Amino acid sequence: MSDNLQRIAVLPGDGVGRDVTTEAVKVLEATAERFDLQLELVEKPWSADHYLETGETLPVDALDDFRDNYAAIFIGAFGDPRVPDMKHAADILLGIRFGLDLFINFRPIKLYDERLCPLKGKGPEEVDFVCFRENTEGAYVGVGGNFKKGTPDEVAVQEEMHTRKGVERILRAAFDWAVAHRRSKVTMSDKSNVMRYGHDLWVRAFAEVADDYPDIETDHFYVDALAMQLVRAPEHFDVIVTNNMFGDILTDLGAALQGGLGLAASANLRPGGVSMFEPVHGSAPKYAGTGQANPVAAVVTVALMLDHLGHSVAARAVETAVAESLREQKCTPDVGGSLTTSQVGDLLARAVSA
Ligand code: IPM
Ligand code: MN
Repeated sequence: MSDNLQRIAVLPGDGVGRDVTTEAVKVLEATAERFDLQLELVEKPWSADHYLETGETLPVDALDDFRDNYAAIFIGAFGDPRVPDMKHAADILLGIRFGLDLFINFRPIKLYDERLCPLKGKGPEEVDFVCFRENTEGAYVGVGGNFKKGTPDEVAVQEEMHTRKGVERILRAAFDWAVAHRRSKVTMSDKSNVMRYGHDLWVRAFAEVADDYPDIETDHFYVDALAMQLVRAPEHFDVIVTNNMFGDILTDLGAALQGGLGLAASANLRPGGVSMFEPVHGSAPKYAGTGQANPVAAVVTVALMLDHLGHSVAARAVETAVAESLREQKCTPDVGGSLTTSQVGDLLARAVSA
């Protein structure tokens, strides 16, 4: 790669993933042109269609290729009813997360317009926090098995795994981000009152790591209490750090606070390595090709990617265009507008070009 060229792999995936990726790419290309960024987009066909045609999910050399030749990976969404066990989605999405050791799943929860918040009396001031979701361990390790499967005596075991190294690095990432972004508090959430071993490790590691950040306030909630507090008083939170499964669940709740899955962005990060960017939503197959999918989550994800690639001014321009379109209700029906997927993409592309 030449010094300033940044190559980005684009995996539209399945369902509305394809629809929103088309618009995200439109906005990305307009932004690159406007800010004179040297980006090369390389589309990858890996998807349910590709799997059903060829039997291939994620090619064996894909991870090395990403590591050697790419600055970032952009993903639409995976999931297709013709692949009921989600084999391709697991191989591709979790394969990239685990294979590239993208241990931070960074999910900002930011309300762009008070109209979009389902809570009474809460506006952009109150709903503005980020979640650091551990992304390589916990309940996602796939350790377990069945015994006497399919019989009345069946036993199923599904283990969680938490390592000291894995827990400590996500905790440090959360504290480091709080320091860098002048946020005052880090909240850790677990279920250590019940999960006595794995989650107790989180409690001990949190206390030790917190000692290294004396200027950051710390706070702890069991996850059930956190779910309640997020709805009662979202303004309480700056940075939430939690395990893989709780982060998965809480960030869907967070998406609802900011106006729905149509707006929620995420970044799968590994400092110093190639990172992967995807909207939080899934492939919603029944909406594919209908023009109803909201491309904003994918577009805000583009902003996260630009920021990560060192183009913070361009990233702010994308975010500003999104915020303005939502305030003016120039958006898809899920967030109170009447535009189609591609009309929103066109509008945002024009706005960043202006
Ligand atoms: C997410 C999704 C994934 C997850 C699924 C599709 C495996 O829900 O990115 O939040 O559970 O991590
Ligand atoms: Mn999820």
